[in-house]
Amino acid sequence: MSKTQTSPLELPPLKRLLGGLTPRAFFRDYWQKKPLLVKNALPGVEKLISPERLRAFADHEDGESRLVQRRRGHWSLDFGPFSKADLADLPNKDWALLVQGVNLLDPGADRLLNHFNFVPYARLDDLMISLAPPGGGVGPHFDPYDVFLIQGIGRRRWEISTQKDQSLIPNAPLRILADFQPEQSWEVEPGDLLYLPPHCAHNGVALSECMTLSVGFRSPSDQEMTIQFLNHLIDSIDAPGHYNDPDLTSTRHPGQIPDAMLNNIAHRVARTLAHSDGDLKASISRYLSEPKPNIFFTPPARCPSLIAFMQKTARQGVRLHPGSRLLWHKKDLFINGEQIRPCPAEYPTLVALADHRSLAGDAITGTTMPRLHDWFCAGWLEYLS
Ligand code: SIN
Ligand code: CO
Repeated sequence: MSKTQTSPLELPPLKRLLGGLTPRAFFRDYWQKKPLLVKNALPGVEKLISPERLRAFADHEDGESRLVQRRRGHWSLDFGPFSKADLADLPNKDWALLVQGVNLLDPGADRLLNHFNFVPYARLDDLMISLAPPGGGVGPHFDPYDVFLIQGIGRRRWEISTQKDQSLIPNAPLRILADFQPEQSWEVEPGDLLYLPPHCAHNGVALSECMTLSVGFRSPSDQEMTIQFLNHLIDSIDAPGHYNDPDLTSTRHPGQIPDAMLNNIAHRVARTLAHSDGDLKASISRYLSEPKPNIFFTPPARCPSLIAFMQKTARQGVRLHPGSRLLWHKKDLFINGEQIRPCPAEYPTLVALADHRSLAGDAITGTTMPRLHDWFCAGWLEYLS
């Protein structure tokens, strides 16, 4: 990860970000309900990442970048990485370059995400940034998740619609609404923010060279969560009993499955599942803490001794690697897919690390050091610079 060339961004008070609303009022009146446009919510945000830097991220092996183009009414979609030469060949209109997970590549972008921590981290996905020349965009569509669209450089026109018809153009390489009927439109400038609830149809068209930052949220599907839990059950189920039928009587229809047998088996399976129920929330919590699939942690070249780590940590403090997910629920912590039950002496420090994602040296208690040392040596934690 590159740590250079980051422009510091003075983050505004939360009330400004939400257009004068308290987070409570925002959640009550807008979250998952209706769009909210806030003019000048994040002044200076256009200095965070330059177009050149975004183009360089699009060339990153572990980055996730896409290029959407519209030529003579036809949409195309290509997947990166894209070299400087690939991007230099593009026309001067009607394309959009999208780079996912910029928070993993740029510490300033990661800090910007922290500003949305009035939403639980378990809901947060990543920061995507798009770059487009005039006319560029990804077409009218809807997303199944909430998103904050923050305007970086340039101007863009957003059109939105609450239409029920969400049918898509058949066989298009990306999801474009077949019949978009805009109901409202805004021209946004650097620093403006547009919140959209899930399934709100939208179309953003660049009016000049333009960059848009999308803070996206996760909404795992019921299918995904259930499969995840069933996989956990397959690995963990412990049901040592066997079917038995001491009351069996003779039959004249040996080909028939006895009702009593099916009832008995259904009862036994239900009982086994009921006993595993306590694990459901832990299994889901571990899943929610799993890093994104493209994250690979690089352990330090030489793991420091515990003493050396303690000395440096006490001086500098630590922060989670931007790809690390540390969450907590009741007495348990979940980090990068693993579940931990910390001892009471460690608990407050680890919960503070989960909530703030960094800790100053003097906020770290000695009892937590061995665990933090392990996480540091796994590449999950870094020194604060
Ligand atoms: C974009 O930044 O061009 C697309 C963002 C979106 O519509 O979700
Ligand atoms: Co969208």
